[in-house]
Order: sequence, then C-alpha cells, then structure tokens
Amino acid sequence: MSPPQILVLALFLVPVWSNKMFRCYNETELLGAAERKLRSHYPQPAEPSAAAARGAELPCPLQLYQQPASTELSARSVSPWTYVLKTLKDHFPSSYMEASCLCSGCILVQKDGSAFQSFDYNSLTVKQSRVFLRRQRCSDGSGYYLTPVTVEVAVGCTCVRANSSP
Ligand SMILES: *[C@@H]1O[C@H](CO)[C@@H](O)[C@H](O)[C@H]1NC(C)=O
Repeated sequence: MSPPQILVLALFLVPVWSNKMFRCYNETELLGAAERKLRSHYPQPAEPSAAAARGAELPCPLQLYQQPASTELSARSVSPWTYVLKTLKDHFPSSYMEASCLCSGCILVQKDGSAFQSFDYNSLTVKQSRVFLRRQRCSDGSGYYLTPVTVEVAVGCTCVRANSSP
C-alpha cells in the first residue's frame, strides 16, 4: 500500500475504533452497562463488614487490648483502623469503604498486660489501586461513555518505625 492509501485507511478506521471503545449509553442503560463491564473486566473486592466500621472519630482504642482478641484484623492490629464511606461523583461503583487509622502511633502491650500508645512507631495506611468506571459525556451530548480510572484506596493500616528525628 502506498502512504496515501494507508492514511485514507487510517482516517476511515479511527472513527470506527473510537465508537467501539466509547459506546454511548443513555441514563437508563448506563448503570447496567457499568455493572457488566466491571464484572467482566475489573472484578471488585469484597466490601468490609459493617461491624468493622466503628466511626472515624474514636480515639486510639487502647481498650481493645483489655478484651479477648477480636476476629476482625482491623481490631487485632497494633495499628487498628476503621472504615469510612467515600463517595465518588460520576463513578461506578459510586461509593466504597476506605480504611482510616485510629492511632497516630501504635499500641504496645506491656508485660503486666496494660496497653499504651507508642510514638516510636506510626500507623500508616496501606494503599491499593482500584479501577472504577467514570462516566463522560459523549461529544454529541446524546449520552455517556465509560472510561476506566484508577483510584488509590486505603485498605488497612500497618505499623512502621517512626522517622528518626535529628
Ligand atoms: C435508552 O436506550 C435503550 C436501548 O437503545 C432504549 O430502549 C431506551 O428507550 C432508551 N431510553 C431513553 C430514556 O432514551
């Protein structure tokens, strides 16, 4: 093929390709289309149990260590966390649960069984990249197309050494 022929072919194919990639959906079709696309291409993690969401305003919960160990990792951790509900406008799913650390330090237990918060350590979130679908207006204004976007989601907290101060 000569270069002009390739150019003509490319001009013909690009609109076909982009229509396929960015199919327009009307408002009624959009949710179903997003759910199908998420299921087939971007399997979603299980949401944490409601029991693990204990409200982000709680202080560092030293009392957890006066009770038998919970089955929830978020409560057994020496850097315990809770989950807070986040919403994302124009995204599917439109909300998700994000981990939020309850202590700035970490909880240490002494030999006599008493617990205290040590600031020689820090509670830090562990992040995971998660794919959401974002709706965008089609150029002709007739509906929306869906594009994958990556969002960093905190999924838990871990205990790390504090940065050494000078
Ligand atoms: C949306 O599209 C579907 C399928 O093309 C059609 O059956 C339905 O009537 C449309 N709904 C609206 C509100 O335009």
